[in-house]
Amino acid sequence: MLWANRHVVVGVTGGIACYKSCYLVRRLVEAGAQVDVILTRGAAEFVTPVTFEALTGRPVFSSLWEPGRALAHVQLGRSADLFIVAPATAHTLARIRHGFADDFLTAAVLAAQCPVVLAPAMNDAMFAAPPTVENVAELRSRGMTVVGPEGGPLAEGAADRPGRMSEPDTILAYARRAVASASPLVGRRVVVTAGPTRESLDPVRVITNRSSGKMGYRLAEAAWQRGANVLLISGPSGEAVPIGVEFEAIESTADLHGAVQRALPAADVLIMAAAPADYRPSESTPTKRPRQQGPVSLSFEPTVDILVATQPDRKPGAVVVGFALETGLDLGKAKAKLERKGLDFVVGNDALEPGAGFEVDTNRVLVLGRDGFRREFPLASKSVVAEQILDLVETKLG
Ligand SMILES: Cc1cc2nc3c(=O)[nH]c(=O)nc-3n(C[C@H](O)[C@H](O)[C@H](O)COP(=O)(O)O)c2cc1C
Repeated sequence: MLWANRHVVVGVTGGIACYKSCYLVRRLVEAGAQVDVILTRGAAEFVTPVTFEALTGRPVFSSLWEPGRALAHVQLGRSADLFIVAPATAHTLARIRHGFADDFLTAAVLAAQCPVVLAPAMNDAMFAAPPTVENVAELRSRGMTVVGPEGGPLAEGAADRPGRMSEPDTILAYARRAVASASPLVGRRVVVTAGPTRESLDPVRVITNRSSGKMGYRLAEAAWQRGANVLLISGPSGEAVPIGVEFEAIESTADLHGAVQRALPAADVLIMAAAPADYRPSESTPTKRPRQQGPVSLSFEPTVDILVATQPDRKPGAVVVGFALETGLDLGKAKAKLERKGLDFVVGNDALEPGAGFEVDTNRVLVLGRDGFRREFPLASKSVVAEQILDLVETKLG
C-alpha cells in the first residue's frame, strides 16, 4: 500500500531507454500512485505524450510556456512525494547538478522538496566520462538516489561498462527505499537468516527440510526497502536475492552459526527465519555410502542452537526475532522459546495449516513478545506478514 495516494512525478529525458519508462509509469499507476509525467523535448522525440497520458490518465507536462500552466513546475515540485528521472541523460544530469532551470523538468526538480531518484542511461563511454562521473558523485552527495546504470547490451552494441538503464522493478525498489526515510530502520544493520540447511551424509546425499526461504527473503526485501542495510544469510533456496540486499550462502547449520556469529557484532536487528537442522548425521563419509540389503540405521547428533549461542555476543539493544514452526500452533512452546532464547518476539506458524508455513507464498502467524505481547495475524502473503513483523521490530527500535 506504500504507493497508494502518493504523488509521484516521473521525468523522462531523451534516451533510448525511454521505452522502459512507460512500464515504470504503468507499474506505479497499478500500485495506486498518482503519477505526473514530464517529458523533455529530447524525450518527446522517442515517445509521445499521448502514451503517458493514456497510462496515467493525466495530462503530460513538457513546456514551461504552456498557457494556463504558468506555475505548474513549482507546484509539481512542491506537491510531489517522490521525483524519479528515468532515463536521466548525461545532459540532464549535468543540468540538475548545476541548478539549471531551462525547461519544465529541470525547473521542477529544482523546486522539489521530496526525495529524488535518478536512473542514468547512456553510452558507456558517456557514463565513464569525467564530467558525468563528477556530476553523479555530486548529485549523490546531495542526497539524491542514483540507481544504476548497469552493464549489458546497449542500443549501439555490447558494452562491458555500465550504461544501460536499470530495469523498472529495480528503480521501483530504490524509489520505495527513498520514500521510507522516516522508518527507524533507516541506516540500521539488519541480519536475516532464511531457508533450510543441508547436513551431509556423504558427498552426494544430504538431510534437509522443506523450508523454501520465502519468509526470510520477503523480510530481507522489506527491511531493505525501509532503509536498512540488510545481510541475508541463506541456505539453498530457489528465491532470487532481493535488490540491494547483501547475500551470504550457507549450507550446514554449522555454516549458518559461523555466518551469524560474524554478522552479530554489527547487527541492530537479528531475524532468524531459517530452518536449521536440529540434528546432523554423526558421521559424514568421504565417499558415497554403498547400497545395502535390509534396513539402514543412521545415528544423529544435535547441532548447535544458534539463537541460544548468540546471546552473549549480541549488540546491546539489538532486537531479536525468532521463528517457531511447529505442527500445530503451540503457544506454550513458543513462549518457552521466547524466554530460553532471549527473544524480543517469537513468530509462531503452523507447518500443517494449508497456506501457512513452508513452501507457500502466504503465512498465518501468531506473534508473542516480551511483557506478555500477543497478536494473531490473519492469513496473508508473506510480503504482508514481513511488513507486519517489521512494524513490530520498529516499535522496539523507535
Ligand atoms: C538516437 C539518440 C539516442 C540517444 N540516447 C541517449 C542516451 O541513451 N543517453 C544520453 O545521455 N543521451 C542520449 N542521446 C543524446 C540526448 O538525446 C541529448 O543529449 C539531448 O540533448 C538530451 O536532452 P534531455 O536530457 O533534455 O532530454 C541520444 C540522442 C540520439 C539522437
